[in-house]
Amino acid sequence: MIILGINETSHDASASLIKDGKILFAGHAERYSKQKNDWYINDSLIEDALQYGKPDHIAYYEKPLLKASRLAFRGGLGDWKPRFNIEKIPRKSFSHHYSHASAGYYTSPFNDAVIVVLDSIGEYNTSTIWIGEKNNIKLKYKQNYPVSFGLFYSAFTQLVGLMPNQEEYIMMGMAAYGDSEKYFKKVNEYFPNIKKQKYNFHNGINDWDLVTEQDKFDIAAAVQKVYELRLTDFMTHAKKITGKNNLVFMGGCALNCSANTLLWNIFSDVWIMPNPGDAGSSLGAAAALYGKHLDWQSPYIGHDLGGEYPVEQIITELIKNKIAAVATGKAEYGPRALGNRSILADPRNSNIKNEVNKIKKRELFRPFAPVVLEEYANKWFDMDFTSPYMQYAVKCLQPDKIPSVVHKDGTSRVQTVNAKQHPGLHQVLSNWYVLTGVPVLLNTSLNIKGQPLLNDSNDIIEWEKTYNFNICK
Ligand SMILES: [Fe+2]
Repeated sequence: MIILGINETSHDASASLIKDGKILFAGHAERYSKQKNDWYINDSLIEDALQYGKPDHIAYYEKPLLKASRLAFRGGLGDWKPRFNIEKIPRKSFSHHYSHASAGYYTSPFNDAVIVVLDSIGEYNTSTIWIGEKNNIKLKYKQNYPVSFGLFYSAFTQLVGLMPNQEEYIMMGMAAYGDSEKYFKKVNEYFPNIKKQKYNFHNGINDWDLVTEQDKFDIAAAVQKVYELRLTDFMTHAKKITGKNNLVFMGGCALNCSANTLLWNIFSDVWIMPNPGDAGSSLGAAAALYGKHLDWQSPYIGHDLGGEYPVEQIITELIKNKIAAVATGKAEYGPRALGNRSILADPRNSNIKNEVNKIKKRELFRPFAPVVLEEYANKWFDMDFTSPYMQYAVKCLQPDKIPSVVHKDGTSRVQTVNAKQHPGLHQVLSNWYVLTGVPVLLNTSLNIKGQPLLNDSNDIIEWEKTYNFNICK
């Protein structure tokens, strides 16, 4: 049975194709249309997906009528109707949070787990707790709109001058530069416990006057702290009511890598699918219809550029220029570049940050992430777990040796790599380690500023022309 999963009419449209539990393809609409956070499916994406087979079923990630009723309740219908369809192929819809839960649980290594979904809003659900046992997922607890972890974080993202639903990760980065105590008490009053918030954050924060630029950083720090406290409360509650020791965490909130690290204090094992936000829900809807665990191998399931991993070319570039751009094989499904659409760089010199920033043209305070050989990860970073999808920020143990991948607060958002997970990238790191004694490289996404990650060969040509810089491929 071939199932085409679809999510659209919300930020980050995507499509996924599975066959008898095998994931054949999953890709983001934005990487084809070049419209960041594109809301809609496009023909090129579907063409790419359908080359792997013709679907027997379409699975949709939301209940459109239920969503329409909530939009109407808020005072306007907006765009709720899914546009994509293939005639004569039966179509089934699953609820927003159930699609998130399915994306997480059915790709996880667990047969017994609690599944927590936290986002801004689905149809009405904002925070849900599910029990996953064998092939079944059952709802245990729900919290509805307007109390919402995601809306709380997004409203403050907007308050500090960033784009809500898109730039939460930038505010998370700003937190390290602020004094969390200055506004902690005030921010805590906005979200004093997991069931209570001051008002509906969907309308933004409307009773706060910003004073200085530094205030923005102090607010970011306080918001991150309050978020981490409430997240801890919610996860403790989830563990208590289910008695489970394995956690599957999904929804846009699972992209907060600073807070995610705290989960290891509560649960013995944690799985966050590398695309936990709405973009991951096309795979979630397909998995929900399949109703069993998928054969999860890796996040490299998008557009295929083909080719062998250019190990020697990357090493040569790193030695010569300290920076190597790489685009090869299948694109990552998820927001992080994990080696196939990446800029890799020598992390030992802090000046390299400026060099990469010249290409990326991003805010100077934003940290770059390291990729490290899994076998040496705990010598360089304070972690006793792996992080193959760059989902946890942990303390760097040797910051003087790799200053360009350490954030202001001494943490790094680590990607660990072993030979099974990505043989090519593992080889690059192994060769780099022999040459330098450092099993770490800087890894950031390969994109033209303001655009999504590079996807196809046309993007490579465009990038090389724009930056006058060769890509290893
Ligand atoms: Fe969501």
